[in-house]
Amino acid sequence: MKLSRMVSNQNGVSRKRANALIATGRVSVNGKVCRNTQHDVSEFCAVTADGDVIQQARPSRYIMLNKPAGYLSATVDDIHPTVLKLIDPALHEDLHIGGRLDRASTGLLILTNDGNWSRRLTEPEIKIPKVYRVTTENPITADTHQRFSDGIWFEYEQLTTSPAQIEVLDEREARITIYEGRYHQVKRMFHAVGNRVTSLHRERMGRIQLDDELTAGEHRPLTAEEIASV
Ligand code: URA
Repeated sequence: MKLSRMVSNQNGVSRKRANALIATGRVSVNGKVCRNTQHDVSEFCAVTADGDVIQQARPSRYIMLNKPAGYLSATVDDIHPTVLKLIDPALHEDLHIGGRLDRASTGLLILTNDGNWSRRLTEPEIKIPKVYRVTTENPITADTHQRFSDGIWFEYEQLTTSPAQIEVLDEREARITIYEGRYHQVKRMFHAVGNRVTSLHRERMGRIQLDDELTAGEHRPLTAEEIASV
């Protein structure tokens, strides 16, 4: 929401009056004077006018989990344990997952209560790189690099995946970078070239790297730098 609208709504003043308050330096966002009427403010911002609270900041939470296999990337499920089982219950409220992993997949999973932030992390149009380490059933063929970089046609979605990079590490092992997060994307890409993924581990999303201090099942809050990188 624009700052002008928030001040006007919450303070019960006209838009014109709100703009005047902002322009004359009487409104602060997160403790700093903000004179930009079009500044975007979310529920996570503290807003005051002349020192009076217009909006109290809702605490935001950003969590990195090293997901073990066997846990569902969901917040509720009747059959399988969900990743929330691994997170301190005091942190659960309004958490959602920023980029799911399949139940058998492991590695970097991010949970947050900040929807705008997680959208930036996952929206295919924003093209944040997601890096996975995969092992495959069959040897990785010489044409895989070209096929992934040309993009793979996904019949169900009627689209071609964005060019992806593959770094072959061994006969059946590779690091792959994709820029979307379509359903079972990596598995479907390998399937399209006649192979099968037997294990998949996410190492990185954008500039957020899975912390190697976290053993499977452990989590920690993201640092301010990691949050700001998205
Ligand atoms: N691609 C997949 O196929 N599975 C995942 O869990 C993530 C990306």
